[in-house]
This record gives sequence, structure tokens and C-alpha cells, in this order.
Amino acid sequence: MEPAQLDRTPFADLDAMPPDMFAMLVAALEGMSRHPEIRRVRHTAWQALRPAPGQRLLDAGCGAGDVARALAAAVAPGGEVVALDYSAATLAAARERHDGGDIRYVTGDVSNLDLDDDTFDGVWCERVLQHVQDADVAIGELIRVTRPGGRVCLLDTDWGSLAFDGVDAGLAQTIVGHMHGRLTPRQLDMGRTLRRRLVGYGLHDIAATPVTCYFPEPASAAVVLPMVNPEVPQEAWMTPAGLRERWFDQVDRAGASGEFLAVLTIWVVAATV
Ligand SMILES: C[S@@+](CC[C@H](N)C(=O)[O-])C[C@H]1O[C@@H](n2cnc3c(N)ncnc32)[C@H](O)[C@@H]1O
Repeated sequence: MEPAQLDRTPFADLDAMPPDMFAMLVAALEGMSRHPEIRRVRHTAWQALRPAPGQRLLDAGCGAGDVARALAAAVAPGGEVVALDYSAATLAAARERHDGGDIRYVTGDVSNLDLDDDTFDGVWCERVLQHVQDADVAIGELIRVTRPGGRVCLLDTDWGSLAFDGVDAGLAQTIVGHMHGRLTPRQLDMGRTLRRRLVGYGLHDIAATPVTCYFPEPASAAVVLPMVNPEVPQEAWMTPAGLRERWFDQVDRAGASGEFLAVLTIWVVAATV
């Protein structure tokens, strides 16, 4: 299925990836799911969504399905999770990992959902809106399919909050500036805009929590931050000659001396329809 409104950043067009790159991105999603800082973000979202037995929930942009499987366990018995992603290859990866919960896997575009109005008790949408061209259209769709009184829970990165210490500040700034729009999505500040967008839609009981993820070692940061991940292929960087090498030299030194630090805020914003 060809979604109507996508930017062409990696997660916006997973089906167009060469197989080795696709496998790397799915492995990256799974690595993130296991990372304690992402678990902390998800714990905050879990408290905000409050999944309960018998509910019907939507995981919009479900990726490899880790959250959908956890939600399915939480809504059992009697509940159901619809795990939706525009990428057929990603949904196939999610299906391969299915653990028996009540999950229906569907392809679809979050900006144009082929789902009925008012049919979900809650929606989880994690790190998807930063990849779509018009987040308000997508949020409108998520609200449309949620029943009155149901909860919409949005999680998104604020790439503008990314900061490093222990490395050359000018070089870090150059790298971050260069990576934005290449390894990171074009809508860099999506996380901080979520609250405003839900206010605009007239939702109530809005709970907005900025969760600042803290990475005191390069290996830990590399799981979430592509610009610290030496596994990201050289060709994806598109940096001027020598820049990548100078950067990793800095990162490795800072890691070895214990001085490396990176922080990134991910927002969790939930509201009642
Ligand atoms: C960064 S991944 C996050 C996946 C998952 N939510 C997680 O947190 O592990 C972004 C996901 O959004 C999906 N996606 C991107 N644009 C989409 C769209 N317009 N409609 C539905 N899914 C989309 C991608 O295929 C990918 O699986």
C-alpha cells in the first residue's frame, strides 16, 4: 500500500529498503524496545493510557509489534489489539514474532485509516508522527477512531533536544545538523508539539510528560541515536570525507575516559477524547 503523505526518511518508507538495511532497522526497533530508557518512556505512556482487560486498542505504526504484544496481554481476556503499520514488510516481521495474543495485523496509513469511527478504547502511537508529512491529519484520524471517553496516547521524539557532552561541541553540532533529515526524520521537534496539537483538537485530561533519556556510554546511546551507532552504513551518513571518522574518534575517546554523555527528550502526551 502506498501511503498518501510520507516524507522519504528511512522509517517513512521501510518497504523501499534493501533487505539488509530493513533487517538492520527491525533489529534496531527491537534493540530500542529492550533499552532501559525506552522502557522508562513506555512505562510513562502505559500509566497514561491505562490499558485494561476487555479493551479494544490500536497500536498505530506498530513496527515489529513489541508494544502491540504487551498491550494484547493487558487487554486479555476479551480484548483485542489492532496492530497497524503502512509497511507490509514490517507487519510480516511483527507477525513472525506473534506470541498468541489477540492481535489483528493490518496494513494502513495512519493519515488515512480504513477503520470505523469511535471503535477503540485507546490508541498508542509511538515515534510515528515524526515521519508523516502532516501530523495533524494523522492525529485527527487517531481521534476519529477513538470512542468518546477513550484515550489517545502519543509518544514522539524531540530531536531538537539532543545534546552531547564530553565530545568537541562544535563537531557534535556539525554532526547533529548534518544528520537531521538524513538519519533522523524531517519533523525534528514533533515531541514538543504534541500537547499543542491535542489542545487544538479540544481533547481534555491532557497529560504531557517529557522523558529525558540519559546515555552515559556510547554503546547505550548507539541503540537509540543513529549518529552514535557505528553499524549505520557509511553511505547513509553522506557526510564530507573524514567527518564521520573524526566524530567516532571523539566518541570513542569520550567513552574510554568515561566522559561521554548524550541526552534526548521523548514526549509522552495522552488525552481523553
Ligand atoms: C520508528 S518506527 C516505530 C515503531 C514502533 N511504534 C516502535 O516504537 O517500536 C516508525 C514506524 O511507523 C511506521 N510508519 C511510518 N509512517 C507511517 C504511516 N503513514 N502510517 C502507518 N505507519 C507508518 C513505520 O513503518 C515504522 O514501523
